[in-house]
Amino acid sequence: MSAATDVPWWRSSVVYQLYLKSFLDSDGDGVGDLDGVVGRLDHIASLGVDGLWLNPCYPSPDRDGGYDVADYLDISAAYGGLPAFERLRDAAHERGLKLLMDLVPNHCSDQHPWFQQALTAGPGSPERKRFHFADGRGPDGAEPPNNWQSVFGGPAWDRVADGQWYLHLFDSSQPDLNWDHPEVPAMFDDVLATWFERGVDGFRIDVAHGMVKAPGLPDAAPGDALNHHAWNQPGVHEIFRRWRRVAESYDRQLTLIGEAWVSPEHAAEYVRRDELCQVFYFDLTAQPFDAAAFRASVDSGLSALAPVGGSATWTLNNHDVHRSVSRYGLVEHDPVTATDPFAQVMRPRGRVDVALGTRRATAALLFVLALPGAVYLYQGEELGLPEVQDLPEGVRQDPTWERSGHTDHGRDGSRVPLPWRSDEPAFGFSSGTPWLPQPDWFADLAVDREEADPGSVLHRYRTALRARRDVDQDAPLSWLETGRSDVLAFRRGDLVCVTVFDGPAYDVPADWGAPVLSSDPMVTGSSLPAGTSGWFRG
Ligand code: NOJ
Repeated sequence: MSAATDVPWWRSSVVYQLYLKSFLDSDGDGVGDLDGVVGRLDHIASLGVDGLWLNPCYPSPDRDGGYDVADYLDISAAYGGLPAFERLRDAAHERGLKLLMDLVPNHCSDQHPWFQQALTAGPGSPERKRFHFADGRGPDGAEPPNNWQSVFGGPAWDRVADGQWYLHLFDSSQPDLNWDHPEVPAMFDDVLATWFERGVDGFRIDVAHGMVKAPGLPDAAPGDALNHHAWNQPGVHEIFRRWRRVAESYDRQLTLIGEAWVSPEHAAEYVRRDELCQVFYFDLTAQPFDAAAFRASVDSGLSALAPVGGSATWTLNNHDVHRSVSRYGLVEHDPVTATDPFAQVMRPRGRVDVALGTRRATAALLFVLALPGAVYLYQGEELGLPEVQDLPEGVRQDPTWERSGHTDHGRDGSRVPLPWRSDEPAFGFSSGTPWLPQPDWFADLAVDREEADPGSVLHRYRTALRARRDVDQDAPLSWLETGRSDVLAFRRGDLVCVTVFDGPAYDVPADWGAPVLSSDPMVTGSSLPAGTSGWFRG
């Protein structure tokens, strides 16, 4: 609830991320699609969210889950094409849900006409200048032009038939666009305008911190695993100022939310008044379930955002990281094989205590839902799905798995198709064979089982999201003294959120208000056990 009516919806909204391929398959080809979403939109609406973000659904060879776009202005036939998109848009809007798409501006597919033209046109041509083509190093140019590594593993350069190399920060099927070339920003102006005119309410911006590279593409410094020449270059901000002008030229409130894995201080720069509307605050996503870590992260985020007037956007899960149940419930770590520092933190592997992880993930959800700002949920989170760590090797589709030489298992385990019905083939996801196999234990977490169980994670999500509607979203956060290092409490207006991260049960002082809800049952009255959050009001 926001007192001021002119506060844009996105500043405190809850958005449900839809990994379309894995939501619901309406035509039996084993891949989720837009009509599948239309058919189950009531499930999403019943959660009490404000909108949906669709992962990319443009025509694409699908080498990287659709983040290899071959045509930015159309919808893939595999997902139902533009007519199905329009059905979903209308059905979402009828239910009062906003619809966000995914914009992928750092790179396109190697099947995009521009890249195909660049291959044909040859070295030095204007067509090649839309990308980062360069001659190689070494006597016959057989070495890549610089030492940059792909995020998915291996060199960030591939060589074409005439001997030149092209840059790809991700898969070799995803050539990076050259944002210094005027046709690139002009093309994306057109993309934004086309979809805004088709009625979308905003975009999640893929790799928002990667579009501009350091001039001359210098080698990464020795030991600079994050390659500061490739990421978070000052030039990206000019692009966002341009897009904000486009978004504000419409008479409805549209949002632009950046995916930028940068420090809290840098993240705040992305949401200066004339830039993006929102940026995911991944610093909290990356923290362990630990009171001091959570508090320090929230403080850093809010204090970085305050001077620019930015609102925070919290998220615990997405399609690139291991699910929070498994991250917070990891009790025995496997030896780390991934060399990517991001994978090491966000995709740790090992033995998971699912009961513990579920408690903690639900407690963490209540914690973030009480914070000031927006919250993004990832499909399946509302069922308490853990990560599927043991997918058979032959079925993995994330290019990370191959490119890393099988040292980084990648992201397939968070993308396994949802279980809807415990006793149907493919758990009701598809009448065909799902594109990734679902484990047998998904039966216990299927939507029908959780609907029937009043104590399920699904019901707890609904209750929490409903209660969040009564929170004064204009109220600032103030921490309360708990007397314990493993317990956090903060007040927002008349709401007090208490999270017990560890240790014995915590007796919540009576003057913090009457219990509204808790992520797991309270021990007695107002006593919260470890791995539990409670909301109090009074
Ligand atoms: C970030 C997306 O979330 C991820 O799934 C994708 O692989 C990369 N960007 C490249 O587009």
